[in-house]
Amino acid sequence: MTETITLPGLIDVHTHLRVPGGEHKEDFRTGTAAALAGGITTILGMPNTSPPLSTPEELAAAREQAAQDILCDVGLFAGASPEMIDQLPACAPQAAALKIYLNDTFGPLRVEDVPTLAACFATWPRHKMIAMHAEKQSVAVGIGLAAAYNRPVHFCHISRREEIELIAQAKAQGLPVTCEVTPHHLFLTEADAARLGPLGDMRPLLGTPSDVAALWEHLDETVDCIATDHAPHTLAEKRSDTPPPGVIGLETSLPLMMTAVQQNRLTLNRLIELMHHNPRRIFNLPEQSDTAVTVALTPNSITNQMVQSKCGWTPFHGTEVLAKVQKVMLRGEVLFEDGRILAKPGSGKLLS
Ligand code: NCD
Ligand code: ZN
Repeated sequence: MTETITLPGLIDVHTHLRVPGGEHKEDFRTGTAAALAGGITTILGMPNTSPPLSTPEELAAAREQAAQDILCDVGLFAGASPEMIDQLPACAPQAAALKIYLNDTFGPLRVEDVPTLAACFATWPRHKMIAMHAEKQSVAVGIGLAAAYNRPVHFCHISRREEIELIAQAKAQGLPVTCEVTPHHLFLTEADAARLGPLGDMRPLLGTPSDVAALWEHLDETVDCIATDHAPHTLAEKRSDTPPPGVIGLETSLPLMMTAVQQNRLTLNRLIELMHHNPRRIFNLPEQSDTAVTVALTPNSITNQMVQSKCGWTPFHGTEVLAKVQKVMLRGEVLFEDGRILAKPGSGKLLS
């Protein structure tokens, strides 16, 4: 008989659900279906939509759509935008956290001036997290702001040796900083980017073997969360002359991380900290009663055919793993079992 293990409902604090404006890539139903198929029962959605979630009106409209469609629990980020920075406090009641983009990536959201950063840190409620897309020396900007305003900053998708070492240094000084890493930055390198072409292109780019080694070295101490940066784009878009950056990850995160547990690269307890306890604590997310994920410890191949996400492909197509999500129960109801989504739209809760 196949051995199984039971985990709490997992949390992914970095996903792109594409509503409004990108519904051909993903929507609240397909994005949350992908989460359930990956053993994830709470997700936070990013604000780089079209238009972005930078005003109370846009957040309200997205929440109204989400309330009808979501299959698991969802919170939304508000996005900092220099033109609409005065609206931030009014966004806060509807947002799980604030996202600030310091570097170029998909979508128009970007903050490049100190007055806007200062306004974010001065006006965003202290009990809600500020998350940053910060690469290279921008990590130092985020650490400086955490110190200057004496408030927590969470770094998204840290991918480079120099960045994780800087965050380790900041933590050693007692600064209130936390960070996530993605499975693609843990399991793929720039050699895979060359093999995959646009299907291996995302921000931050895949790293060198030394970068990947540094992330694994820091997984027990410095890294706080595994988050996927689930960023669906269609194959047609990826094969176009201007392919957008981003790859999906909700369905493959747990199978990949469980495989690492099987291979003694991290402990099962550490996986549960990285994928449940720490994200819950850092983003102050509610507990889900009667919620459990059953994982079968069995060899399995990841394929494009199994993908629930609307984009229909994964950069891990053809990868062999040692775990398969068998069943997901949320608040006493079985919402996913043996490859089938059983949840009905609206079975998820919207987080404030
Ligand atoms: C993300 C997207 O497509 O929205 N793309 C990516 O390469 N990660 C944007 C982001 O999170 O930077
Ligand atoms: Zn992202």
